[in-house]
Amino acid sequence: PTKLRVSQALSGAELGSNIKVQGWVRSVRAQKANVFLHVNDGSSLQSLQVVASSELSDPLLTFGSAVEVTGILKKSPHQKQPVELDAKQINVVGECNPSDMALSIFANFLISGAEQMLLDNGFVEINTPIITSNDCEGAGELFQVEPSGPDYADGENFFSVPAYLTVSGQLHLEVVSGAFSKVYTFGPTFRAENSQSRRHLAEFYMVEAEISFTQSLEDLTKVMEDMFRFATEHVLAHCVEDVDLFHKHVTPGHREYLVSFLRITYREAIDILRRSSERFAFPTDWGCDLKTEHEKYLVKHCGNIPVFVTDYPYDLKPFYARDNQDHPERTAAAVDLLVPGVGELCGGSLREERLNLLSARLEEAGLEDVYSWYLDLRRFGSVPHGGFGLGFERYLQCILGVDNIKDVVPFPRFSHSCLL
Ligand code: 4AD
Ligand code: MG
Repeated sequence: PTKLRVSQALSGAELGSNIKVQGWVRSVRAQKANVFLHVNDGSSLQSLQVVASSELSDPLLTFGSAVEVTGILKKSPHQKQPVELDAKQINVVGECNPSDMALSIFANFLISGAEQMLLDNGFVEINTPIITSNDCEGAGELFQVEPSGPDYADGENFFSVPAYLTVSGQLHLEVVSGAFSKVYTFGPTFRAENSQSRRHLAEFYMVEAEISFTQSLEDLTKVMEDMFRFATEHVLAHCVEDVDLFHKHVTPGHREYLVSFLRITYREAIDILRRSSERFAFPTDWGCDLKTEHEKYLVKHCGNIPVFVTDYPYDLKPFYARDNQDHPERTAAAVDLLVPGVGELCGGSLREERLNLLSARLEEAGLEDVYSWYLDLRRFGSVPHGGFGLGFERYLQCILGVDNIKDVVPFPRFSHSCLL
């Protein structure tokens, strides 16, 4: 056979001759007797239609796979294309797992659903910086940013202060929420957690929202629940085929996420854990952080639906969380959303808007100078406000029922792994 580029084949110059084309499958349509492919090799925007009898079909012949097709170039009976290739032989030279494709399309619809809900409700999208000097979560799990190259050979610091890849856009959102009232961001965040768990990445995406004039955790959890529900319905409406592809992994009751969510306090969560006969690896005393095993147990206990856990011990939450001064135990107005299969999907809180309380807490931590600009937000036009962050890869994990977070992103980053 004569080897031809797809553009040459499409020009019809070799009609009637035995040719071979190499390219990638752009569509596959199987009928009873025949299978129809469109093959593109980058030489033309158009694809070459290939008609093959069903015996030549192959389960590896999927969208994106690389193929070599040999056959006779013929005039096409259809008006849309001038020629078609009557295949005598098809070799799949490179496989392409279609579920990767399905996943990316699914991810697209999930985020567009979440963003549509926010935009419909008057949120303004803000791009928060990726390089920052703050450690919003105060956990010290930062990647430091250093310049490299001949100008910086003597270790000079580019920004004059230590700079890091952001762990959260929250503090920047708090600044702009003072002008726009309702803001959100969708972007990458980075954490140097030395964890090999099935729900941690070193680089992950977050949808973060911040809302001025938020007076209570009820106000906040309503937005979280509405966003989850809208985005989930949106993706299920648009991606049924992609969801079906995952069905063998998907937890059967995934549509139950659309029922009303449950709310319990941290105190109630601790009581449930302490009453259970389950043997946990980590302690369940008041004041202990909830671990993955606890979160998964709580979700199951509550009927495998999303659960808000509210009012965590004050000392467990970062400096920005609002003090619940009227509670008998010292708690903060913070909330986590726990979901089936994953545990924590969102973290949020009311922010401490009272200058005296916030400055006392920052002083205690020795951070009042670093965060003097943050205290200024409480000096000039301070309002009750709150917000949350939703881990996008965990959202995919939860809806698709994927066990390991590394399987929902094309290029996962985690400790000892930064290929490509
Ligand atoms: O609970 P986190 O740390 O909350 C914040 O960063 C807040 N500043 C957000 C805000 O209020 N604007 O993180 C939020 C969510 C978690 O609930 C989790 O879903 C996800 O981000 N997350 C991770 N996802 C993957 N890998 C990691 N290492 C993650 N760390 C947090
Ligand atoms: Mg959290």
